Amino acid sequence: MDSILVKGGGALSGQIPIAGAKNACLTLMPATLLSEEPLTLINAPRLSDIRTMTQLLQSLGAEVTSLQGGQVLAMSSHDIHNRMAHYDIVRKMRASILVLGPLLARFGEAVVSLPGGCAIGARPVDLHLKALEAMGATLDLRDGYVHATAKNGLKGGQVAFDFASVGATENALMAATLAKGTTVLKNAAREPEIVDLARCLRAMGARIEGEGTSVMTIEGVDRLGGATHTVVTDRIELGTYMLAPAICGGEVELLGGRIALLEAFCEKLDAAGVSVRETEKGLVVARKNGDIRAVDVTTAPFPGFPTDLQAQMMALLCTAAGTSHLEEKIFENRFMHAPELMRMGANIDVHGGTATVKGVKKLRGAPVMATDLRASVSLILAGLAAEGETRVSRVYHLDRGYEHVVAKLSGVGANIERITEQ
Ligand code: EPZ
Repeated sequence: MDSILVKGGGALSGQIPIAGAKNACLTLMPATLLSEEPLTLINAPRLSDIRTMTQLLQSLGAEVTSLQGGQVLAMSSHDIHNRMAHYDIVRKMRASILVLGPLLARFGEAVVSLPGGCAIGARPVDLHLKALEAMGATLDLRDGYVHATAKNGLKGGQVAFDFASVGATENALMAATLAKGTTVLKNAAREPEIVDLARCLRAMGARIEGEGTSVMTIEGVDRLGGATHTVVTDRIELGTYMLAPAICGGEVELLGGRIALLEAFCEKLDAAGVSVRETEKGLVVARKNGDIRAVDVTTAPFPGFPTDLQAQMMALLCTAAGTSHLEEKIFENRFMHAPELMRMGANIDVHGGTATVKGVKKLRGAPVMATDLRASVSLILAGLAAEGETRVSRVYHLDRGYEHVVAKLSGVGANIERITEQ
């Protein structure tokens, strides 16, 4: 297994290009199943999760051709001969559940493995299933699979989510585009990735209103056409790299960044003593002057502070002046980076869903282990400013969500390299 070696160094400067959003692409790709016309995605990120979703779609009979080094995905679901998503693919990536709504909507049947949990939580899919039932689906859970049918097709329904679930909103939205009649999604998730999906579906001929708000109304149509869609910028990769100059000092421009993608996060950076300036090319980030100040953070569905940036923000607050409190309200087990940061000298106390971080002067490099996607990159950020060398192992977690992290960070002056272990 590969590891990444980071030597703490000085200020960073230069530009980092931000890729297309992994979490947008993972819902845009299953949308191909809704139509027999070609769907082409531009600005797709080159990540292992995208390759896993490609394999899944191909196992169903879709054609997925990766062009321009993976930045363009040309897809066609003209001949879907298989409507079963096997456990051995679904367990690798939970987003596979997002083929359920499209398969059911277009073919009236789908058999999809329950995704199971992952390191950060149990990750149930009850909200996905309730939404599809509200559209007339019959769901039979057995041997770890969802056996879904909708003999006469799905029909428009009223769906009120107990929680603004991103995935459940995406599954329901895609299914509703081909349901007979009108569907209303209440307490829908408002993430930019959902707005991006709605835009793509509309380009395919779907009738959708209210994306980005908590009430979405979808008028079902008989069939959808094809489209060519540019994937929205990845706000989580953006926020992650904004923290690099915040932690190390210097000034970095994040190409493609927009404040609107991360308003709550930018407000917290400002309170912590980090300036964010929007230019026509992206966002310029630098420390205002002197120390980083402690701030309190509570994760929430969009437009709140993103849970996917909690681990990275903790890395910044480890050397802030004062005590910070990070409250994780989305997932039940998303502080696994804390013990690893403590190996580097951080002073963190985790109680239930709250981590109390007492700032220390400096972190010290140490061998640490990545436990999940976002934890892995928080350890790299901490290593950038730590004294000495940090070796992050199990970086396969990183490859799921960050393309070319070594090239992007060394491009702005970080001392970082990838070690391939025999
Ligand atoms: C999406 O996961 C993202 N993944 C996650 O990013 C992100 O952390 C999450 O949204 C929250 O923003 C993708 O888009 C592929 P949820 P998702 O449904 O859809 C509970 C990353 O690092 N819940 O909003 O699974 C669930 O247990 C990943 O890129 C139910 O109880 O998130 C969790 O506690 C990690 N029942 C909370 O809601 C359900 O049916 C948030 O889940 C669904 C969810």
